[in-house]
Amino acid sequence: MVNYKDLGLVNTREMFAKAVAGGYAIPAFNFNNMEQLQAIIQAAAETKSPVILQVSKGARNYANQTLLRYMAEGAVAYAKELGWEHPQIVLHLDHGDSFELCKSCVDMGFSSVMIDASSLPYEENIALSKKVADYAHQYDVTVEAELGVLAGVEDEVAAEESHYTRPEEVIDFSSRTGCDSLAISVGTSHGAYKFKPEQCTRDPKTGRLVPPPLAFDVLHEIEKKLPGFPIVLHGSSSVPQEYVDIINEHGGKLPDAVGIPEEQLREASKSAVCKINIDSDSRLAMTAAIRKVFDEKPGEFDPRKYLGPARAALKTLYIHKIVNVLGSAGKAR
Ligand code: G3H
Ligand code: 13P
Ligand code: ZN
Repeated sequence: MVNYKDLGLVNTREMFAKAVAGGYAIPAFNFNNMEQLQAIIQAAAETKSPVILQVSKGARNYANQTLLRYMAEGAVAYAKELGWEHPQIVLHLDHGDSFELCKSCVDMGFSSVMIDASSLPYEENIALSKKVADYAHQYDVTVEAELGVLAGVEDEVAAEESHYTRPEEVIDFSSRTGCDSLAISVGTSHGAYKFKPEQCTRDPKTGRLVPPPLAFDVLHEIEKKLPGFPIVLHGSSSVPQEYVDIINEHGGKLPDAVGIPEEQLREASKSAVCKINIDSDSRLAMTAAIRKVFDEKPGEFDPRKYLGPARAALKTLYIHKIVNVLGSAGKAR
């Protein structure tokens, strides 16, 4: 049993309370490898932003759970080395799909876990989320649960039919599960193809898809039911078109990839939304940088020569999100 406090990590409780009160959101960036982790920590240290290092079940399988735990511990030391005196870093399980997986992460030093039982019937979602919360809370690990179904692919759970979170259920759900934060569905979706072309309009000047707006009315109704309760948005990548263009110009093929406009995320950050999940944008930034090197320098075969530019692109992306979208810069001095 490893306790996250011994690794220098923090849970989300105080971080979220401050974010809700302060009208900003904490970035939750997924990582699977060293370069992503370095870029996240460099960006957070430079901006003095609290940050959530997010690990999916897939990331755990890809990178090895033991290695990831030590990487997170190393991240705290690295942050201090970069001059961040009091790093506020959370190690969080993203989309945990079973009690056993959540327990294993709690036992290995995660400071926060998500139990995503949103694809189960309501009462089963409550029962599983409560079981995880009861276990995690013994170790002061915070728990995110989800109510409502996002469109797209949630890890290995394909949600064919999305439905918004029902505001009339949130009080019952949060009180009976004991969860510390609630992921909701208000129109975001995972991946780089968040909307089908038929759900969008098309900008006549650029020919690009314009997505439908988030359901702010549903978000505000939820906030009214649960004043001050931390709300989480998954599927919040914006799919920056400059990355899509670079990828497509250098041999890639991502037609009509579209995300959530950043102004809407900025707006959501000012509400009870206090955690915003971003993964696809980092995948796009990395892929764009690597494709460019491969295309322009076909003789290059030193991984540092393409992973280095990818890491630099990631850092720029993360700083932009922290400073211009989520508003969390300077909140962890
Ligand atoms: O919401 C899912 C995250 O983007 C993680 O994706 O399961 O492919 O690691 P992954
Ligand atoms: P994106 O696919 O929009 O980056 O969402 C990531 C996410 O929600 C991780 O849980
Ligand atoms: Zn997600």
